[in-house]
Amino acid sequence: MLFAQITDLHVCLPGTLLAGRSDTAGFLDSAVARLNGLRPRPQFVLVTGDLVEGGSKAEYRHLRERLAPLQMPAFLRARQSRWPRGVPGELRGPRILGSRPVLRAIRGRTRRPAAAGARHPCPGKPSGALCAERLGWLTERLAEDRETPTVVAMHHPPIAVGMPLMDPSCLLDGAGRFRELIAAAPNVERIPAGHLHRPVTVRYAGTVLDVMPGVAHQVSYDPEGGAPLCLVFEPRMLQLHRLIPGAGLVSHKLYVDAFDGPYPFGGG
Ligand SMILES: [Fe+2]
Repeated sequence: MLFAQITDLHVCLPGTLLAGRSDTAGFLDSAVARLNGLRPRPQFVLVTGDLVEGGSKAEYRHLRERLAPLQMPAFLRARQSRWPRGVPGELRGPRILGSRPVLRAIRGRTRRPAAAGARHPCPGKPSGALCAERLGWLTERLAEDRETPTVVAMHHPPIAVGMPLMDPSCLLDGAGRFRELIAAAPNVERIPAGHLHRPVTVRYAGTVLDVMPGVAHQVSYDPEGGAPLCLVFEPRMLQLHRLIPGAGLVSHKLYVDAFDGPYPFGGG
């Protein structure tokens, strides 16, 4: 199985720039084109949150329009244990579990998620939370299969990662129980996440927490939190996940935009 991950789309109303600068819808267009151009083509795209900026129905309509050209299914924060099967002979898995009760195939029936991700940045309470129901669901899913390689996709990183301006908005409520669940499930290969708008990797509860940059703007690197939170147009990325025999789940990070090259090492 080969699948892609993108995150933090932050689609705004048509004709609107986020913070007056970030053409998030235009950025999504180019990400969709990049995904469509990949060979081999991913079987589906996992989108780990911050789909739209404000959460209005009009924004979700806009999101749907912009994702329409995508030539593969998109799952917007998955929650299910049954997942598209790979081709015969492929390694079993990975199972993909999500932290929010949302599974929406984008084609034809996109709806506003019942528990939309926190906006970022936003006033109020942007942190993540796992309620008892969701933790119970995750407990059951992890307990029913301790062997198949499993991916637990989420939006908010479940721990602070040394970004003083972002860490207060990571997963807070339910984080302790979540860590216990993951630690008890050695077949969790990866926790792909977003929210930080930066690439961050850290060992977490015996697995790997892998935070991806967004497909629109990023957040400036500020490990001291000495400046206001700023967006920055650093390279946008997507990720490809594939189970490889002998290696496990291998994740390749690709830039969305094109760069100069390629040129053969031999010259010419
Ligand atoms: Fe975001």
